[in-house]
Amino acid sequence: MKAWNRLLAGAAVLGMTVLMTGTSFANGPSLFKANHCNMCHSVSAAGIERTSHGHFPGKQPPDLSHVNRAGKASSWYAGFLQHKVKLDGRPHRRGPWTGSQSDLNTLANWLAGLK
Ligand code: HEC
Repeated sequence: MKAWNRLLAGAAVLGMTVLMTGTSFANGPSLFKANHCNMCHSVSAAGIERTSHGHFPGKQPPDLSHVNRAGKASSWYAGFLQHKVKLDGRPHRRGPWTGSQSDLNTLANWLAGLK
């Protein structure tokens, strides 16, 4: 292999690595949509619409534009999404979080900032 080719191959591998470990590109709104939170919740203040319009049994999923008016810690949101803490005595209506810890923290920080 010529040196030039080796350099190109190296650059390609580096590019792939950046893409595959690219959690640094993820932000609250993109994670919210990637995890289908917007199936049930709108966040109208952030321009996010609810995508399903059927009736939801029981308590309706709230719009989260100002969800943290009360000023909870972001760790509360992380715990709620993991089913470690409950809201009004009930776990979140969606299954426990299965994504990465760093994505969970990013999402929880964003939610905590919605005041
Ligand atoms: C299947 C529908 C559904 C999905 C999907 C869903 N939620 Fe919910 N969520 C609800 C419902 C219903 C409530 C209110 C009832 C409850 O759980 O106490 C709720 C409550 C919440 C609350 C608490 C609101 C409050 O009043 O403090 C937050 C925060 C939240 N969801 C975030 C999320 C995030 C983030 C995701 C995606 C990871 C998500 N939800 C996905 C149905 C859903």
